[in-house]
Amino acid sequence: MCGIFAYLNYLTPKTRQEVLDLLVNGLKRLEYRGYDSTGVAIDAVDSNDIIMVKRCGKVKVLEDAIGSNFEDARYSEEPVLTHVGIAHTRWATHGVPCELNSHPQRSDVNNSFVVVHNGIITNYKDVKTLLEKRGYVFESETDTEVIAKLVHHLWLQHPNYSFRELVEQAIQQLEGAFAIAFKSNIFPGECVASRRGSPLLVGIRTKTRLATDHIPILYAKEHRPHGTSLQPLPLVSRSDSTSEFQPLENKEVEYFFASDASAIIEHTNRVIYLEDDDVAAVKDGALSIHRLNKVLDEPHAREITTLKVEIQQIMKGNYDYFMQKEIFEQPESVVNTMRGRVFFETKNIVLGGIKEYIPEIRRCRRLMLIGCGTSYHSAIATRQLLEELTELPVVVELASDFLDRNTPIFRDDVCFFISQSGETADTLMALRYCKQRGALIVGITNTVGSSICRESHCGVHINAGPEIGVASTKAYTSQFISLVMFGLVMSEDRLSLQQRRLEIINGLFNLPDQIRKVLQLDTKVQELAKDLYQHKSLLIMGRGYNFATCLEGALKVKELTYMHSEGILAGELKHGPLALVDREMPVLMIVLRDPVYTKCMNALQQVTSRKGRPIIICQEGDDETKSFSSRSLEIPGTVDCLQGILTVIPMQLLSYHIAVLRGCDVDCPRNLAKSVTVE
Ligand code: M6R
Repeated sequence: MCGIFAYLNYLTPKTRQEVLDLLVNGLKRLEYRGYDSTGVAIDAVDSNDIIMVKRCGKVKVLEDAIGSNFEDARYSEEPVLTHVGIAHTRWATHGVPCELNSHPQRSDVNNSFVVVHNGIITNYKDVKTLLEKRGYVFESETDTEVIAKLVHHLWLQHPNYSFRELVEQAIQQLEGAFAIAFKSNIFPGECVASRRGSPLLVGIRTKTRLATDHIPILYAKEHRPHGTSLQPLPLVSRSDSTSEFQPLENKEVEYFFASDASAIIEHTNRVIYLEDDDVAAVKDGALSIHRLNKVLDEPHAREITTLKVEIQQIMKGNYDYFMQKEIFEQPESVVNTMRGRVFFETKNIVLGGIKEYIPEIRRCRRLMLIGCGTSYHSAIATRQLLEELTELPVVVELASDFLDRNTPIFRDDVCFFISQSGETADTLMALRYCKQRGALIVGITNTVGSSICRESHCGVHINAGPEIGVASTKAYTSQFISLVMFGLVMSEDRLSLQQRRLEIINGLFNLPDQIRKVLQLDTKVQELAKDLYQHKSLLIMGRGYNFATCLEGALKVKELTYMHSEGILAGELKHGPLALVDREMPVLMIVLRDPVYTKCMNALQQVTSRKGRPIIICQEGDDETKSFSSRSLEIPGTVDCLQGILTVIPMQLLSYHIAVLRGCDVDCPRNLAKSVTVE
């Protein structure tokens, strides 16, 4: 989804070219989120104007355009002491991808206020109509343009308001989800940013150590109507002036506003995660954080936290694509998920983030696992085991469908929200829905500081490390293991389950080496990809613990290769899908020596007797099963409930290789975004 990057240097000399390089580099770090157009805004050299460059397509196209736009000024320019630049990658929601619809969007022809925005303003039509009545002429099809024009309108009404106050007023009138960052030529050297529902963080870099590890929150002391003529929009209050307040270093400081930490980490590891309705303003080098209304029990300050991510973790290294790197990282990422949690010698599991809640979870009525896409598949993959180990009903839900149905939720439900990014709008909405109804909320996320992480009562960080490729790979195996660990914790007192627990813990111990072994199939998988990449479709069949692999494999093939693919429960074959099978239709079947082996073999025979020629994923050394096909991939044997971790890896590799052969953009598939922050 859209990415925001803004940079403010205060008393820190930078040439305009350096600022532009920083902005473009920030956008490159956000590319993985998915986008279709880009833009930047910086100050002009010899005037008070703001210059914007916007382009359709990749950041590289923007970079080239900047190169030609600013060529003359590049080397001659003197450094500027203080400057604000804002930049954006747009994922179109309102209006086609084109330069006019790209961000920054502006308030007027003088570029008085320019804004970058991530999210959707749901009441933009109402605001637009009101502004049009006041004479504003809109030039784009975006919802974002209303934000810039609304701030401008408020400024005309209240010329004495500060930049921050104007933004505060404006966001009171916006509905929907947003993260925004503003720049203005009326308030040079100032930047104001805010969020509601979409992520935004502020990085701080100073020459000397920061004197504080938190920023106090400032609240409005009085409530007054804003007095704009934009009625009937709701009345809003105005914050107190805080001009005497100097909350942070006011010398030689740089601020970075970004949608996520990957754009900031190479500059600083000191960040503040903004909360919904925070307004962060930088004026005269001082950062302050404001809220209009104080909520009971709310913290009085925002903490400055230290990021643990290393720059190497977000670089491709020797790999061609991030996705490829992330697939091959799995022997290590699964270890990181288990580190400090699975004690192999004592056969003990400790999940620090939910430990205190385990008695409450044990008493619950049912467990609900909720997510989207790959995260949902990790719930499908572990449902059977969780039912077995917790002896509780386990319901698995797609977040969007769950919300559509207004599903009944009870105070004694325990709801798990699974999300790599921790920002997926549908999952987050479902979380809030369940929280309002009194359920216990458990977050399973990969992103520290994400919304799901912060809004959960407790949770498990899957610790897979940054996942940049839009296609989720290592996050899936780590989500899978996190849920298995949860099942093991829940069953630690059950005598009848001790043998089963031991088998699983031993299985977990062997996983990293077994994953390495599966990854050695890469060349063989690449050969298979050569056979398959020109086909139109691929059917993937299995059942039991491997049904989730079929769904996940098909999702990977679809999103990366744009081929049709379907994950089919082998038990459903004769109820319809068998009609698709003939000599030409590519079929892949997972047939392992587990409790559903015989049933899978029946399905295999149903396919071969329709002249289907399936590729088989089977257990190492299982010659009998292998004999049903000329093409097979053998994976090491493990305990039934962990097999899905090993069987999904050939599917990840296969979709990757097909995508490369078809010339697809592996890390940024068309139309998709890494972090889906709109419903
Ligand atoms: O960040 P999340 O795990 O909440 O994302 C959910 C889905 O959007 C995501 O898993 C998506 O399906 C992947 N791109 C699939 O590879």
